[in-house]
Amino acid sequence: MGLALAGMVRRAMSEPSDRRQFLARMWKWSLGLFTIAGVWTSWDILRPGTPVGFGGKVRTVPPDQVPDPGVLTVPAAQSYLTVIDGEVVALWWKCPHLGCRVPWCESSEEYECPCHGSNFNRVGDVLSGPAPRGLDRFELEVSDDMVVIDTGAVILGEPAGEGTLEEESSGPPCDEGTE
Ligand code: FES
Repeated sequence: MGLALAGMVRRAMSEPSDRRQFLARMWKWSLGLFTIAGVWTSWDILRPGTPVGFGGKVRTVPPDQVPDPGVLTVPAAQSYLTVIDGEVVALWWKCPHLGCRVPWCESSEEYECPCHGSNFNRVGDVLSGPAPRGLDRFELEVSDDMVVIDTGAVILGEPAGEGTLEEESSGPPCDEGTE
């Protein structure tokens, strides 16, 4: 009888302790799960995704729609698509001199920078002006049905004076007052 009573007392003494340990463990688990959920959510919001539009990959047109010879303007990629030796290339319209946008001139069939008068031929080589190199290019992914411009992958233009394509200017420049 005495032993049974002692056992009951011991259990009674130990039960609150077990409950405290159980609650403490539950609290730690909850805190851990809450922390993991918070970290996961933050990562999901902040992780770098594939950029869309300029800075990332821009889908354009099927390769057979790129004019040859000629130039197709792709504003979303700040680019001109053209064909050189049967291969599609994308030229960045940013002038390598001081960064002005360089428009394509239909009459001269050259790119003419309106800021300081650098001119570039259809494939982006420097023809005149202070630009230190030709227009930069972007890497491309070309499949049968799509040309994708990777505007995050820049290939520097050829240094001035190392033009690779001989194409005569076909007409008057678009802005004769820039030089
Ligand atoms: S920014 Fe084009 S020539 Fe200066």
